[in-house]
Amino acid sequence: HTNIVTCTAPVNIAVIKYWGKKDEKLHIPLNSSLSASLDQKDLKTTTSVVAGTDFTEDELWLNGKKENVESKRIQNVLRLIREGSTVEWKDDPNYKLRIVSTNNFPTAAGLASSASGYCCLVYALAQLYGCRSDLSAIARLGSGSACRSMYGGWVAWEMGRDHESSVAVQVADEKHWPEVQILVCVVSDVQKHTSSSDGMQQSVRTSKLLADRAENIVPKRMEEMKQAILTRDFHTFADLTMKDSDSFHACCADTQPPIYYMNNVSHHIVSLVQSYNKKVGSNKVAYTYDAGPNAVLYIADEKHMVEMLKLLHIYFNPSEGVQRERPFFDNE
Ligand code: DP6
Repeated sequence: HTNIVTCTAPVNIAVIKYWGKKDEKLHIPLNSSLSASLDQKDLKTTTSVVAGTDFTEDELWLNGKKENVESKRIQNVLRLIREGSTVEWKDDPNYKLRIVSTNNFPTAAGLASSASGYCCLVYALAQLYGCRSDLSAIARLGSGSACRSMYGGWVAWEMGRDHESSVAVQVADEKHWPEVQILVCVVSDVQKHTSSSDGMQQSVRTSKLLADRAENIVPKRMEEMKQAILTRDFHTFADLTMKDSDSFHACCADTQPPIYYMNNVSHHIVSLVQSYNKKVGSNKVAYTYDAGPNAVLYIADEKHMVEMLKLLHIYFNPSEGVQRERPFFDNE
């Protein structure tokens, strides 16, 4: 007897960053966060799960490689799915799982693969097991940011106080602001030096700036961000997005020992975006960086996307490296 389910889940890119856990076991974050889920025709994870009595053990395959199914995160997810399950074989030891997951983008590029990955795993398992619990809370136990991939469009992860209240909520759906485009600039595809989990743990331990950010900066910024999105105010949206990315990386630099995720090319892209916005007279592009050097640009509309792509080609032509030290209209 076998059952099979296949699902896909999107990558999400935060504009208000999650950095730091209040509870390491339950993945309760220090602050709420907010992201957009990318269109699944571009970046996504596809996961198939099979439950059957003809396998001898559980197996997990990620992008063609066999991985450890006994990891704490996977086991926590499985436990909660079974707790919420309605099928009669849920605790039958004769049933084994085969999980096969692939990304349609390079995993090593540091493009939030754990977010789409755990989200997809939880969703697929929930279909298989007939699980009725809040799936964003279960995905959170896989990887914090994964809870936000449970919905399309603009999604907040409300920090909450406990397992039940720390969940993702859709702020606006994928049709709300169709003009906005997202450009992922892969600056480097080498695996990040400090994982998000380790990095944020070090920051929580050593950075006073992070405590201040979580307590005094993010709560107000979350409300302003929701307003900017709901009113489609791109200028304010971009301002808040860039400030929050800067604030997150300042906290990393304030960590002991300091963590630097951005590199020279990342900083060049920041100044290119700043100069471009200045030149056009209002914010049409916003940069944001996660735990790595890759830039994600949120762009107001197609016209500015085309202009930005041209500029990026002039300054970062891959065949010639960084061509110019600074964007050309810096001195205008
Ligand atoms: C910088 O969700 O990967 O991308 O909960 O430990 O799995 P764990 O961390 P993870 O951290 C993501 C951090 C970030 C910001 C964000 O996506 O909000």
